[in-house]
Amino acid sequence: MRATRIGAAAGLVLILVTVFSSVEAASGPGAGQAGSDLDRRVRTFLDAHAGRWRDMNISEADGRILHDIIVENGYTQALEIGTSTGRSGIWIAWALSKTGGKLITVEIDPGRHREAVANFREAGLDEFIDARLADAHELVPVLAGPFDFVFCDADKGWYKNYFEAVLPKLTVGGCFTAHNVSPRMRRGGWGAGSFVEHVLSLPFMETTFAEGSRAGISISTKRPAK
Ligand SMILES: C[S@@+](CC[C@H](N)C(=O)[O-])C[C@H]1O[C@@H](n2cnc3c(N)ncnc32)[C@H](O)[C@@H]1O
Repeated sequence: MRATRIGAAAGLVLILVTVFSSVEAASGPGAGQAGSDLDRRVRTFLDAHAGRWRDMNISEADGRILHDIIVENGYTQALEIGTSTGRSGIWIAWALSKTGGKLITVEIDPGRHREAVANFREAGLDEFIDARLADAHELVPVLAGPFDFVFCDADKGWYKNYFEAVLPKLTVGGCFTAHNVSPRMRRGGWGAGSFVEHVLSLPFMETTFAEGSRAGISISTKRPAK
């Protein structure tokens, strides 16, 4: 009888441990670590807003991909082209809060820019973000840089121009990522196709495509000159 009770108690403990560790794992970056107050605040914000992004925002999975690229490489000087209401910016800035970095993000639409700024504040990440209301066609070429991480997610037909404008300011080892692109675009064409064809032709850029992104993310890393 006693042995049965001990067995049942051990089973209950095992179930609770399994449940709590899967909740922790689902809560994403920082899982398994103590997690700071900021981590908890960002996670709470993202969970509360999970079904509410309506402005062409990236998915949670894509946000996580960007976050992990930054943390794994220790990137600190980030640029985002196309803020919208700030979902990707939050993932990027969350990563930068861990590497000690800062993000400049650019949006042309005043309403989306305003909403993004409010979201950054609510998530507790505003000190890591310089949100600019501007036409990126004009602003990106005059930004000083340097940048070691760029996320391009604005007007697709301009991707190649954004890339060319940023390239001299991209550090060696730094990367230019672009959203809504795939290796199928390597033959060029309209939209982001001309960017994909171009970046794949450059011997000093090493380009891969993120696994696990349904929308498609290219990651182009600048190699050292030979
Ligand atoms: C796909 S949405 C960005 C989504 C955002 N990265 C996210 O995941 O939350 C593209 C945004 O780029 C902005 N955009 C388009 N052309 C632009 C330009 N020339 N300069 C700045 N922003 C631009 C649009 O207004 C739109 O909000």
